[in-house]
Amino acid sequence: KPRLYSGMQPSAESLQIGNYIGALLNWKSLQETHDAFFSIVDLHAITVAQDPAKLRENTRRTAAQYIASGIDPDASTLYVQSHVAAHAQLAWVLNTITGFGEASRMTQFKDKSAKQGSDGTTVGLFAYPILMAADILLYDTVVVPVGEDQRQHVELTRDIAARFNTRFGDTFVVPEASIQKETAKIYDLQNPLSKMSKSAESHAGVIWVLDEPSVTAKKIMRAVTDADGGVVFDRENKPGVANLLTIYSTMAGRTVQSLEDEYAGRGYGDLKKGLAEVVTGTFGPIRARVIELLDDPAELDRLLAVNAARAASVADATLARAYDRVGLLPPR
Ligand code: TYM
Repeated sequence: KPRLYSGMQPSAESLQIGNYIGALLNWKSLQETHDAFFSIVDLHAITVAQDPAKLRENTRRTAAQYIASGIDPDASTLYVQSHVAAHAQLAWVLNTITGFGEASRMTQFKDKSAKQGSDGTTVGLFAYPILMAADILLYDTVVVPVGEDQRQHVELTRDIAARFNTRFGDTFVVPEASIQKETAKIYDLQNPLSKMSKSAESHAGVIWVLDEPSVTAKKIMRAVTDADGGVVFDRENKPGVANLLTIYSTMAGRTVQSLEDEYAGRGYGDLKKGLAEVVTGTFGPIRARVIELLDDPAELDRLLAVNAARAASVADATLARAYDRVGLLPPR
């Protein structure tokens, strides 16, 4: 089976619906046909300030949400990034072959550093995409399923891998991003021109996987639409409605066309009511399962340890290969 790698930051108590649709839903089906590795990237999360106790808690919560959403920890390797030391180790080596200018061109770095100010912007935030390259390259990854916002980072990973191979001899598999066109970007319900994000300033337009169903329903009912009134998919002129239709169609497993037909001649209120039912109907059981899993943290930690050991056995071999190619003297 082809090797697949993806990950998510444990940077909030709950994932948001963009993570669920853009990542988890795809992961769930891809794990059947791929040898899949899914990490909870805590080392990435600390590139912006995190409360230590909350980070630990959110790491477990993120793991629970992966499992509750259908990632099978027996079939796939689901682990915490910092449990496998090779990630930080390979990242260092890759830092040394990445151009400063090249890293400076990452748009996500530019956005995030603009928000943090120059003193809040750490070297870690700058090196973030290079750590991501290490994640991917350690597993001889062929496919990297991500949302649109990660495309540039996967491109950088490809460049770094190819450069290393040219300079030191064939070492890394050059991976490819897999981006689902329709669901690559889910937008904020209050601001349908900007990406939904865990770190959004206002949470009024963010749907959390673990929110109370009544809160989720309210947020959907208040979603920004337009004055036109027709339930028609038109990304350019009706971004709010297009976003609701995208969410509805992926969560319900239905085509946009069938939704347009069903809601033709009816108001946005009906569309929102239908969508709220589908979303709370999906997230309700996930939420219940997460609560169950978090009730037994020892079992969750045991699962993560078993999976980390499996990941380390692959990663350590790749790291040794890379160290050797670069000319680092092996210890005896
Ligand atoms: P993160 O934690 O920001 O997001 C996790 C995944 O969710 C996708 N995503 C979205 N998709 C559609 N619409 C949205 N509004 C939306 N918001 C987030 C992201 O594209 C991503 O696929 N750097 C990565 C984590 C990472 C990683 C890796 C990914 C670290 N190492 C190696 C793949 C391979 C990140 O910050 O994701």
